[in-house]
Amino acid sequence: MSEVKKAEFVQSAPDVTKAPKPNIPEFAFIGRSNVGKSSLINMLCQRKGLAKTSGSPGKTRLINHFIINDLWYLVDLPGYGYAKVSKKDRANFMRLIYDYFEQRENMVNAFVLLDSRHAPQQKDLEFMEWLGTNGIPFSMVFTKIDKLSSTELRKNLEAYKKEMLKAWESLPPIFTSSSSSRLGRTELLDYIDHCLKTV
Ligand code: GTP
Ligand code: MG
Repeated sequence: MSEVKKAEFVQSAPDVTKAPKPNIPEFAFIGRSNVGKSSLINMLCQRKGLAKTSGSPGKTRLINHFIINDLWYLVDLPGYGYAKVSKKDRANFMRLIYDYFEQRENMVNAFVLLDSRHAPQQKDLEFMEWLGTNGIPFSMVFTKIDKLSSTELRKNLEAYKKEMLKAWESLPPIFTSSSSSRLGRTELLDYIDHCLKTV
């Protein structure tokens, strides 16, 4: 594993046109509001306040870029599917996210975060199908595994894989994580390292 030796906030952008030049590889963290995107980023970088986290959903509203080891971008995206905003706002957020993935030619991998406590949700399944259709490589990260027993986790993972295999011929890489107990950190950083070696 190559360690995160340096992690710096670069900028926040309201949409893809204002994002930094796509001149180095990048990895995005995406998923429903409150799933733990910002917390996972802080855990990977071992910096508590690097990405802003919150107990109430809808905290991240901009596209936030961080540069890691002066080598690659880590991107914290706004969450989708936040119920407490208007239908129009939700559609705008979705557009922002789709535009982002369609236009970033430096995107190496999208980490799609899923709450390990929940059954497969339509919104997430649809989003992963869209990524697949658009040829954007992604992997799945089941978050907050500290909140359930290993038996429950295994059961939920199996159920999710079964659901995915209804639409997919094979499964993407699957990770599990806990930002509070730092589980999954090595595996995720190893995977990023592996991807960086192939670009
Ligand atoms: P938005 O920016 O609103 O889309 O949310 P987000 O996906 O960035 O989630 P965030 O990291 O802000 O975390 C949401 C809440 O979940 C916070 O209260 C976190 O403390 C909590 N949380 C995140 N990850 C974990 C985890 O691994 N374990 C536990 N127990 N709580 C977590
Ligand atoms: Mg966030």
